Amino acid sequence: MPALSKPLIQKWFNAFMRLSPRALLSSASHSADLRLPLRGECRAGQVYLVGAGSGDAELLTLKAARLLMQADAVVYDRLVGDDVLALIPKSSERYYVGKSRGHHSVPQNEIGALMVKLVGEGKSVVRLKGGDPAFFARMGEELDALTAAQVPAAIVPGITAASAAAACMGIPLTDRGHAQQLRFITAQLCREDGTPDWAALARKDETLVFYMGLSKVDAICHGLRQAGLPDAWPIMLVANASKPEQQSLVGSLADMPEKLAAHPLASPCLIVVGSVVQRVAASPASAENQARYVGQV
Ligand SMILES: C[S@@+](CC[C@H](N)C(=O)[O-])C[C@H]1O[C@@H](n2cnc3c(N)ncnc32)[C@H](O)[C@@H]1O
Repeated sequence: MPALSKPLIQKWFNAFMRLSPRALLSSASHSADLRLPLRGECRAGQVYLVGAGSGDAELLTLKAARLLMQADAVVYDRLVGDDVLALIPKSSERYYVGKSRGHHSVPQNEIGALMVKLVGEGKSVVRLKGGDPAFFARMGEELDALTAAQVPAAIVPGITAASAAAACMGIPLTDRGHAQQLRFITAQLCREDGTPDWAALARKDETLVFYMGLSKVDAICHGLRQAGLPDAWPIMLVANASKPEQQSLVGSLADMPEKLAAHPLASPCLIVVGSVVQRVAASPASAENQARYVGQV
């Protein structure tokens, strides 16, 4: 491993400790125990496609934190939290290219062109995306744009919303008594007249995780019931998983549309369907503390 200068390591450490008040507190009492294995550089002329995690800054990887502190330019999305953005030094360039539903603030081809331009100026670039950059995040198109321009790229995974939501609700998505399979699904096709293969999805040995489905809960419940899952089959919705404003609803395919109408949830929201959701009731992350579960461990 190349030798790192002490001031540089101290700079990274200090910046990492600024991530959140909780981290700051723990640094006061445990700083002597904390040995961060930060190594490596952020190369000029390269793009790093980095996962920012699900919202709780402490769920950011050390590699992501290091790259954010080192990059010349950061191109970031809507779902990246302020605590994470606070890691970017003031001297670095920032470009917001976030999208909201039905509205692309920056077209996808322009995001690719922006990264290529920044690299052409001799900069190191972090492309920061919420969750894991490879989960429903158009990373393929961005890699294609970089490949076409012969720009080297590296991928740094992040905590995807499914992992964060399951942890915050205190359940394992693949508990072996409940699910032998786990499926990640974009809800984009789940409309009343959409074409998901409901029969293939309506299995009792599987956990289904729908991304981008808050406005399609009715269609999902209806489609799965029509395809044979029982009315009482468990479903949970987790909004803002791992953030202080996290909210959740637990119910059945039959009653969830009504529950959601009575208690609307905010976006971003994840939908989990499967018998493993039954475990929420018995989880140590009880109804009162689910919203804080990640913060407590
Ligand atoms: C465009 S996808 C990006 C997914 C992201 N790459 C990931 O790995 O989590 C956006 C969807 O992810 C889900 N999502 C992202 N962050 C979330 C969070 N903190 N809580 C709940 N759902 C979240 C929602 O379903 C949202 O509509």
